[in-house]
Amino acid sequence: MAQSPLQTARYQYQPKLPAILKENIASIKVEMGAPTTSISDQEELKALFSQTYGAPVASIVKGDNAAASKKVNVGVILSGGQAPGGHNVIAGLFDGIKAGNPESKLYGFLGGPAGIVDNSAVEITAELMDEYRNTGGFDIIGSGRTKLEEESQFDQAIETCKALEISAVVVIGGDDSNTNAAVMGDYFKKQESGVQVVGCPKTIDGDLKNEHIETSFGFDTATKTYSELIGNIGRDANSAKKYWHFIKLMGRSASHIALECALQTQPNICIVSEEVEEKQMTLKQVVSGMADIVEKRASNGDNFGIALIPEGLIEFIPEMKKLIAKLNDLVAIKADEFNALDGLDAQQNWLKGNLEADLFEAFAALPANIKSQLLLDRDPHGNVQVSLIETEKMLSEMVKSELASRSSFSGKFNALHHFFGYEGRCAFPSNFDADYCYSLGYNAFVLIANGLTGYISSVRNLANPADQWIAGGIPLTMMMNMEQRHGHMKPVIKKALVELDGAPFKAFAAKRDEWAVATAYLFPGAIQYYGPAEVCDLTTRTLAYEQA
Ligand code: FBP
Repeated sequence: MAQSPLQTARYQYQPKLPAILKENIASIKVEMGAPTTSISDQEELKALFSQTYGAPVASIVKGDNAAASKKVNVGVILSGGQAPGGHNVIAGLFDGIKAGNPESKLYGFLGGPAGIVDNSAVEITAELMDEYRNTGGFDIIGSGRTKLEEESQFDQAIETCKALEISAVVVIGGDDSNTNAAVMGDYFKKQESGVQVVGCPKTIDGDLKNEHIETSFGFDTATKTYSELIGNIGRDANSAKKYWHFIKLMGRSASHIALECALQTQPNICIVSEEVEEKQMTLKQVVSGMADIVEKRASNGDNFGIALIPEGLIEFIPEMKKLIAKLNDLVAIKADEFNALDGLDAQQNWLKGNLEADLFEAFAALPANIKSQLLLDRDPHGNVQVSLIETEKMLSEMVKSELASRSSFSGKFNALHHFFGYEGRCAFPSNFDADYCYSLGYNAFVLIANGLTGYISSVRNLANPADQWIAGGIPLTMMMNMEQRHGHMKPVIKKALVELDGAPFKAFAAKRDEWAVATAYLFPGAIQYYGPAEVCDLTTRTLAYEQA
């Protein structure tokens, strides 16, 4: 297979491990702490997870563990959106398994969670693994978004495991996939299937984190990739001095990515959805705040700038959230009437008679293309696909008309638009993600070798050199609460949104007024893989502030 020079070089990179995981695998074991409880709704969760609820936190310590060298077969699933480092989780798991017993096998389920249901799997051999070490992507086995939540799927998964003699499954996924892993692990135990389940925290969105999971993998590389691009655009903007760049950043709900990129690049504007919701800001207020900054810069002769917009913003603006929910209902309940309407004007007239006055006003104030996107793009569940809504264009158009209405504005406003998401999800993992992922995978096997199930692989102390990282296992039920999903209360791992009293947001809030007016862009440049540790092994600003 043809290789780029960096690819060839990265194949040789040896990821760093926490000191304890460098010991002979048969000389490390888990030490169990006190029983745990879920973050809330303890009684309901205890009843739902009768087999695994309340398990203790596990620490990896020195000590004999003969079971580590037992021959075993393990299966691995990549679930959901790609995140840099997924291949290294598999590499760490593979190396851990083989360190235990070279006869043991690792099977990769193809195309995501559906692979375990359909018994679609490939044995990951040393040759196959070596083609993917330290590379981005999930293409070694592929990923998918099939949800594993039905007992019939779990029963089929048990059959697959029996057929391949698999005694443990590692699920590499985000909050939803790990929630499903917890349910599956409990069910497997109840059925006495003999199959353990261990999760690994993945998502570029950075919203699977808590006291024990300091960050999800992929967030580091993705934000560094976007920040490189934002820095480059900042330099272009400051050279040409004629464009405002409106940049939407992935992240579905939480604004961690936008906030981290703001800390790395110091843009003129960065909207944080969680703040918009907390302050109950209207769309008009968001637009007016942005227009104020454009105007202030223009009065200094700076008719250019950078504005970062989180992907999920629209659902955090209270009136838009209400509007979207109402539109979802209307379009579903009155589908025949709605589908008979011809064109946007007819649809708008119809909505006038069907929406409450304040919601209609919010709808009518939107640019035409956004109105159409709100009405046309629905997913199979009947919801508007917010990630397809061009929020960056909506905001720039609204800022433009706001400025046109101000007699005080005499500058120029020319906007360009960008959406950074897929550009970063499969980048070569940074050294941090390469090391972190490899450690998560290797550690997952240590948890398996110690008989644990219903756990997530945890590697902490990440703001310090890898040697000092702390490996362990966290019971998945410990990170759960009950939440309303599609009209039903469900057990879920709590999603971490940006905390407005957290150190990263506070650091941003302390500087944003200065960055708004001064042109204080930072240029992070491309991720460096070789060179001094202070350049190559840097963690994110978010992690550095949180761990400071
Ligand atoms: P995960 O939560 O599965 O990690 O995916 C995150 C994400 O990259 C979001 O940032 C984005 O909104 C979404 O996936 C895009 O989904 P898709 O890959 O299906 O287009």
